[in-house]
Amino acid sequence: MLLLDEPADTVPHADPAFLSDVLAGLAQEPKAIPARWFYDRRGSELFEEITKLPEYYPTRVETGLLEMHSAEVGRITGSGRAVVEFGSGSSLKTPHLLRAIDPAAYVPIDISGDFLRESADGLAQAFPGLPIFPVEANFMRPVALPQEIAGKAKLGFFPGSTIGNLVPRSAVNLLRSMIDTLGLGAMLLIGMDRVKGEDVLVPAYDDAAGVTAAFNLNLLERINRELGADVPVHLFRHQARWNDLWARIEMHLVATEDLSFTIAGRRFAMQAGDTIHTENSHKYDPRSARQLLAAGGWSPIREWPDADGKFSLFLAEARAEPVAP
Ligand code: AVJ
Repeated sequence: MLLLDEPADTVPHADPAFLSDVLAGLAQEPKAIPARWFYDRRGSELFEEITKLPEYYPTRVETGLLEMHSAEVGRITGSGRAVVEFGSGSSLKTPHLLRAIDPAAYVPIDISGDFLRESADGLAQAFPGLPIFPVEANFMRPVALPQEIAGKAKLGFFPGSTIGNLVPRSAVNLLRSMIDTLGLGAMLLIGMDRVKGEDVLVPAYDDAAGVTAAFNLNLLERINRELGADVPVHLFRHQARWNDLWARIEMHLVATEDLSFTIAGRRFAMQAGDTIHTENSHKYDPRSARQLLAAGGWSPIREWPDADGKFSLFLAEARAEPVAP
């Protein structure tokens, strides 16, 4: 066999999906790495720290909305639903909802198995008697739910404005695949961060204490740790910028001088000012949020904004497609 094209891209013990995303993303121009790779152990800890920063309002505002409105969510959804949380992470917002809606079961879905089991254990203590079925899976694709909740009505829960990480076309794909996972008749409670001034948005992603910078730069450290690479992390700086055309905050890693590095035998060169695009955080005003939901097959039922118009919770339902006029 002639293997002229065989890439030198195997690294022992590396996650092959991480390696191939990094190699493909750095080979393209502009360079980009999917944001989901932020969340190794260190990245998850740094994100937890971000949620407590004075500049990072989304977690605080959304938690307040859940405290205030979960009872009403429960009146609309009714009791006895299985709550399925997409990307549950540490499940910090979930207790407010579970307390209010009297669920039949709780199914947290996350790609990080460690985090998943820890937070499931925590919730099991707080809610004795509530059946919890953690599922370790990538929720970007339809997920097979546990047999135990097969006959139950479902409530999807997707807080944190995580939907904003996806470009609209992928967001719509995800919303549709959630219907494949949950079935028609399911409801979805989803949080979305709203469009607002750059004076508020940019500091939320570029805080004075430098925690978001550390979170962004940790991706390069993770590449060095897990993929045996030699990326000169100290020659990169964190950048957050508002892209008005796409209504999103973008995070980039900017090369501060001409540099090069090698990952799995492949060499990459960057010039001073070149960037690696590491995250999008799309913001939605209420109308565009409802259109996004509808495009993904979810009929909006209700919206709960906070008093300052920073963030909204939406409740939506997956209805069988009626004859459209
Ligand atoms: C977890 C995707 C909602 O986009 O606001 C926070 C991630 N990145 N600061 C967001 C994040 C930088 C966060 N989400």
